[in-house]
Amino acid sequence: MKKNLSRVVSVLLLVAMSAMLVVGCGSKKSGMTVEEGKLIMGTNAAFPPYEYYEGDTIVGIDAEIAQAIADELGLELVIEDMEFDGIIGAVTAGKVDMGLAGMTVTEDRLENVNFSDTYAHASQVVIVTNDSEIATVDDLANKTVGVQLGTTGDIYAEDIEGVTLERYNKGFEAVQSLLTGKIDAVIIDEQPAKAFVSQNEGIKILEEKFTDEDYAAAIAKDNTELVEAVNKALANLKSSGKLDEIVAKYITED
Ligand code: ARG
Repeated sequence: MKKNLSRVVSVLLLVAMSAMLVVGCGSKKSGMTVEEGKLIMGTNAAFPPYEYYEGDTIVGIDAEIAQAIADELGLELVIEDMEFDGIIGAVTAGKVDMGLAGMTVTEDRLENVNFSDTYAHASQVVIVTNDSEIATVDDLANKTVGVQLGTTGDIYAEDIEGVTLERYNKGFEAVQSLLTGKIDAVIIDEQPAKAFVSQNEGIKILEEKFTDEDYAAAIAKDNTELVEAVNKALANLKSSGKLDEIVAKYITED
């Protein structure tokens, strides 16, 4: 009888230990997150079609990709809206798990954060008024150009000869300035440019692109676990066709 009891106890112990192992593996699989069970995404939701408000809800390509990643990792997605300029800081300070904001991979940013694998190609393009004399990127010399603060548009436009940069917190504020004649052009990512141009009369996108870029998720340098988990989830989304599906929902090829 006593022998049986100790057998029961050791079996129970084994069960408990393997349950702990399973739980341990489970959390490891999800990567290290700021808050247990949650995937907190920092973004700037004024960037259609990647992230923008529909009523009180943040929707868009990045929001859906993040939801799909969270689903794959068994985590609850939380989206925090902030200035674009503050996203990398929020990632490095451990306030958010990842920045997903149509964010371009750059050498400078790589000094502060890790990037996941890329999930989209992008470009900076130039928006001008329909009657503008600006027809090429070279014509931007000595002009007043609007950009979103801290974006690659802002960073690379600094190299334009004699340029005066007007920096805005949101891309559409730059577009409004262009519409009221305060500035000569706006440099911004191609997809939001298309969205802003389709919503406003009298402006167009130059055929010549300003840059070629790739978007990825920004993750804290020491959190290689989460980078790996996000990369795995992204790979699944790519191979299953789910990523294309999400993009096709928001971008119709012209
Ligand atoms: N691709 C540009 C960059 O990384 C602009 C991104 C702006 N994103 C946003 N959600 N406002 O600098």
